[in-house]
Amino acid sequence: MTAVPPPIAMLAELTHRCPLACPYCSNPIELARQAMELSTEDWSDAFRQAAALGVLQVHLSGGEPASRRDLVDLVAAAREAGLYTNLITSGVGLNEGRLKALDEAGLDHVQLSLQGTDAAMADEIGGYRGGFDRKMQVSRWIGNIGFPLTLNVVLHRRNLHQLPRAIELAVEMGARRIEVATVQFHGWALKNRDALMPTREQAKEATRIVGEARTRLKGVLVVDYVPADYHEDYPKRCMGGWGTTGLNIAPDGLVLPCHAAQTIPHLAFENVTETPLVAIWNDSMAFNMYRGDSWMQEPCKSCDRRTVDFGGCRCQAMALVGDAAATDPVCMKSPHHGALRERAEAHAGNGDSALTYRVGPGKTSIDTVVEPAG
Ligand code: SF4
Ligand code: FES
Repeated sequence: MTAVPPPIAMLAELTHRCPLACPYCSNPIELARQAMELSTEDWSDAFRQAAALGVLQVHLSGGEPASRRDLVDLVAAAREAGLYTNLITSGVGLNEGRLKALDEAGLDHVQLSLQGTDAAMADEIGGYRGGFDRKMQVSRWIGNIGFPLTLNVVLHRRNLHQLPRAIELAVEMGARRIEVATVQFHGWALKNRDALMPTREQAKEATRIVGEARTRLKGVLVVDYVPADYHEDYPKRCMGGWGTTGLNIAPDGLVLPCHAAQTIPHLAFENVTETPLVAIWNDSMAFNMYRGDSWMQEPCKSCDRRTVDFGGCRCQAMALVGDAAATDPVCMKSPHHGALRERAEAHAGNGDSALTYRVGPGKTSIDTVVEPAG
């Protein structure tokens, strides 16, 4: 068995079930059905294995993790394994009693997603009437209990003008951190590039607003930022580098190097219920395929940034140029960069294209049918 430095964080996708229907959902087109989800005991075992491997934090995510009836037991199991626990939630499905039970189970941190800064925008994007009011109520309960809070906002062409208010809201809620992530086009989100792609001007404005807020709110609020990479010159260091700092477990137990890895068709994944996590991390084909830099092609192979960004995102290279080992076309050194830029401008120029809402198992239509704005 080869020794590889251990991961720091694990994303536990407890379920793909979700009351919301966000068009930018990055979960796969084919979602895991409830009957395929790991049991409470399987997850508890996975948490123990993760802690033994060296993982320090677990991000409990979905779908909507509150859709799991055993969420409190899962948090208790993760804490008992010695993991720092972060719940990533829309807030829908939580009430005050359940939040208090999560507190008693040892939940360390909550990350609340924000689809818009008012009910009109948030409920349109989430496809769920009443979702925004519910979220505001949940944020008050979170504050009363005293959970450390991060507000998580996905920006796109329709809501980018609300960024200043989102930052204000984070301060009003007492959040310690806001994660401002411009929409990434993985999974379902690819269907909505015309409807969601920000314009180049919007992308520049978001960077300016974030810079100004970081200076003004130093010591009050940490502002994390994922820029609109289709409009950037260099790609992001996706997952901190493939197989270096994190791993994901899908609802059915498949262990993935990143949440979109199943879009790379030649990768084979192993299940945490069948193969020890330590063996999957160290020796599996999927984790070793794009680890380090020996797999790289030119221009990455001889580029001095190759250990800075590891050639960008493998899943994006797969989706956009059909080769997961290619340079991420976001990079200006990629032969596909010019075409990507042109396509981004074309998507962004496509006016008020209708949203294609996320649907999946147990959810074949959205709760609120919302007409496209404009
Ligand atoms: Fe990164 Fe590859 Fe571009 Fe160099 S050529 S900056 S390693 S993506
Ligand atoms: Fe898979 Fe970036 S999302 S490597």
